[in-house]
Amino acid sequence: MKKLLLHLDTDPIPSTFDQAVVYDAGVDNVITYGGATRDNVTPHVHGMIFTRGGKNLKNSAIFIGGSNVPATEMVGKAVKKAFFGPVRVSVMLDPNGSNTTAAAIVRKVLTNYDISGKNVVIIGSGPVGQRTALFLLKEGAAQVVLTSRSIIRVKAITDQMKAAYGVDVTPAETRNDDAVEALLKGAHVAIATGPAGVCVCSNSAWKNSDTLEVIADVNAVPPLGVESLEVMDNGNEKEGVRFYGAIAIGNFKMKIHRGAISSLFNSNDQFLDETTIYDIACNIDT
Ligand SMILES: NC(=O)c1ccc[n+]([C@@H]2O[C@H](COP(=O)([O-])OP(=O)(O)OC[C@H]3O[C@@H](n4cnc5c(N)ncnc54)[C@H](OP(=O)(O)O)[C@@H]3O)[C@@H](O)[C@H]2O)c1
Repeated sequence: MKKLLLHLDTDPIPSTFDQAVVYDAGVDNVITYGGATRDNVTPHVHGMIFTRGGKNLKNSAIFIGGSNVPATEMVGKAVKKAFFGPVRVSVMLDPNGSNTTAAAIVRKVLTNYDISGKNVVIIGSGPVGQRTALFLLKEGAAQVVLTSRSIIRVKAITDQMKAAYGVDVTPAETRNDDAVEALLKGAHVAIATGPAGVCVCSNSAWKNSDTLEVIADVNAVPPLGVESLEVMDNGNEKEGVRFYGAIAIGNFKMKIHRGAISSLFNSNDQFLDETTIYDIACNIDT
């Protein structure tokens, strides 16, 4: 029986990237809709769950993406609500690639590195930074600081993370290089999750820290997120610090993304989100 994937995207034009990946994960056909909202997805979900019964349901699955994370999560809830008990299919949520990217960052950082008791600074509190903080705390980091150019914005984010996941993330404001440099003093790991094309960590910021052991960056668009880092860095050391760049992390993110998509077809009852995609990543070789 053919593997069918319903791709629901909250953006008006569904992501080409997300559609391309699923074919490489072994899906036979993708049915794609843009403009997905919690109010318009039920008929599409019913189209998937009522066409194949019993054990054949595992050959159908749903992927939810889009650039707006809260909108994507609301669609995820609406999809679950449209199921009838065991009459359901497996679902994966990866808004803007945030879950798979954060899982890739953390697995790379943890390659031959024990995070327990370590202090982490994550520069950039978008979806990728938030997920990265969550996974690192789950792995035993002593403290994770998450930054923004606005303490009000990042405090709202860390409060929301406490309410949603019960984790204590420390908010911090970084409006300039000096603020980043001050934060990195005493940090063991620095992760740049700022926007594409913006350097958020200068040479002086990381070179003046005596404690840094690992630096990672997911911005692949020059200027890169960390000065002196290169996109292909994959655990190589510079000045006693281990570096991971956006291509090395991105290549592993692709493996996780494909692995998660293909695992959807193992059964009809999975819900892969920011809490479960990391577990899949742990079983894939970095
Ligand atoms: N390699 C891959 O496979 C992959 C996949 C997905 C994403 N990414 C990359 O991951 C990074 C983070 O993604 P995201 O979706 O979490 O990004 P995002 O939502 O754009 O978040 C970026 C964060 O940076 C801050 N920011 C915005 N403009 C800034 C500036 N000029 N200077 C300093 N900080 C600024 C913003 O916080 P404030 O406005 O509050 O300061 C925001 O929280 C991006 O570079 C993206 O390209 C890579």
